[in-house]
Amino acid sequence: MTTTNFPTRIETLAGQPIPQLAEKFGTPLYVYDAATIEARIREFAAFDVVRFAQKACSNLAILDLMRKAGVLVDAVSAGEIRRALAVGYQPGRGEHPEIVYTADLFDRESLDLVVENNLPVNCGSPEMIDQLGERMPGCGITLRINPGFGHGHSQKTNTGGSGSKHGIWHTQIADCVKRGAKYGITVTGLHMHIGSGTDMQHLSQVCQAMEKTAMEVGPTLRSISAGGGLSVPYREGEQRVDVAAYFELWDATRQKLAIALGTPLTLEIEPGRYLVAESGNLLTEIRAVKQMGENLYYLVDAGFNNLARPILYGSYHPMAICQQNHKSEVLLDVVVGGPLCESGDIFTQEEGGFVSTRQLPEAKVGDLLIIGCAGAYGAVMGSNYNSKPLAAEILVKDSDVHLIRARQTFEDLIRGENIPAGK
Ligand code: LLP
Repeated sequence: MTTTNFPTRIETLAGQPIPQLAEKFGTPLYVYDAATIEARIREFAAFDVVRFAQKACSNLAILDLMRKAGVLVDAVSAGEIRRALAVGYQPGRGEHPEIVYTADLFDRESLDLVVENNLPVNCGSPEMIDQLGERMPGCGITLRINPGFGHGHSQKTNTGGSGSKHGIWHTQIADCVKRGAKYGITVTGLHMHIGSGTDMQHLSQVCQAMEKTAMEVGPTLRSISAGGGLSVPYREGEQRVDVAAYFELWDATRQKLAIALGTPLTLEIEPGRYLVAESGNLLTEIRAVKQMGENLYYLVDAGFNNLARPILYGSYHPMAICQQNHKSEVLLDVVVGGPLCESGDIFTQEEGGFVSTRQLPEAKVGDLLIIGCAGAYGAVMGSNYNSKPLAAEILVKDSDVHLIRARQTFEDLIRGENIPAGK
């Protein structure tokens, strides 16, 4: 099921009858369709390297699928490095390194892991160059540029400009090259990611900024990375990013730079959302249908502990109902909320927290409500708030259904907690 094909009443997900999935695995349940991910991957075939920003959906089974499809990976933390290694991505460097550590800082554990595994680093702050230089003198690095402007679907996902903490400020790149030289470090790549959910209008500005900075760095460069950020259609009628047009603009920049610098350049892209968003749906059960003044509420068993995007950014997700033991053609304007003890636990809200309604089929307790386009930044941003377990996750591949994350148990929830001994 993709967003552009999301009716408000559905019976199957990834070809599987929804009631059976709910019955077998329980709810809330993340359901991913491998075929959708594989189709998205194919769209990027023209790029030399497709590097999955695993923060969008880092379940081991999803990483394994990416690796087998030839997609490389980035890691923003020690945990993400370990995940990549766990599914068989190879450590080390080489022409197309399989794992790249990309962050604005090293915590001590991530620095140790980078050194142990000889991982290439995309530095998002000048301090990282010193910290790396002391441990791995003579290595090559890439620099993440903050070009002084950015764009995202929300201010919180805009990663450029002085209002964002990300990257190295564009006027400091030349200083960073000198800073690296003190340790024998060479700048071999540049990377730019101005935000998540950005648009084509900003792309030519980004390419120009890349060209300007690359000329300052010079012929040591071997690669440029377009970052991630490609948007997907969450709402009916929203335009899908044209990946071919995206490639053409970046390829023109690559070619221009290759001629100017006299060296071939690898072109990387680092999508997260685009590869996985539409493959994932959050399956929930309606547990209450109540009228509160002028508003009718459907309360489901998933909350912002399972999908935080609406409460964080006012993000819109398509929704559908699977009626269980009745049929009704009636459509109603409803507010959809979860079980958490917070008024903000509402899936139909806009940025700023304004509650809105959605037109959905008439439903009863026990009907299933599907929240679509939830594969990116869904399960990974889950929490145990209100002592709720993380949702189970399943992957449907070639008509087989695989449980890829068991629902947490109460024991999982309290693991590591201790009551002090004594009086
Ligand atoms: N590369 C870097 C350096 C990033 O920081 C990100 C996302 C990506 C790539 C992947 O961006 P994508 O292709 O997914 O747009 N939680 C937010 C999104 C946060 C994005 C963080 N960085 C959301 O749910 O919309």
